Amino acid sequence: MPSDHCKQGKYMVNKPYPEVKVEKENVFYANLLLQDYAGIISEFTAVSLYSFQHIVSEDKYKDYGELIGGISIIEMKHLELLGKAIKLLGRKPAFIACSCSEWEYWKASNVDYSDNIFDMIKAAMRAESEAIENYRKHLEMIGDKYIRQLIERIIMDEEYHLKLFTNIYNKYLSKEKDEVKKNQNKKKKHRE
Ligand SMILES: [Fe+2]
Repeated sequence: MPSDHCKQGKYMVNKPYPEVKVEKENVFYANLLLQDYAGIISEFTAVSLYSFQHIVSEDKYKDYGELIGGISIIEMKHLELLGKAIKLLGRKPAFIACSCSEWEYWKASNVDYSDNIFDMIKAAMRAESEAIENYRKHLEMIGDKYIRQLIERIIMDEEYHLKLFTNIYNKYLSKEKDEVKKNQNKKKKHRE
């Protein structure tokens, strides 16, 4: 993980997070936020996925390793902010969420363990776009103005992450295309 804390600013939108507070306790809202906190698509899954990807890409794909490590720390911040909001809304911030009317503890199989660079970036992009979609759905159901401000601010970071992932995906794609071209030229020369 990037050890320099100032570097974390590179991986988040330049706007402070709102103070975590709530209008009043509301267990329904807390349960919705638990899905974003520790559901299948959640901050906890993002932290775990990105930490895994950081470790496997550290040597082979240095630039992606640095990017994903930096972003994982921002996701950890989101996890903390949501956890605090869940607590204020009246629930314990345990790593448990309700999907399809059943409560389930967060599980390690929520993580995509692909280690090919393109699959890793695609998994990260999917994690961000699905998280944004869920946050937007929850915004439609949550009336608490402080929670809404928090979600809106978190969405800004996720959109930024999606942009960073798209850029690095395109970079690796053009690198690969160049290598294919180079190999084709080599073969051509060899035949001549
Ligand atoms: Fe996040």
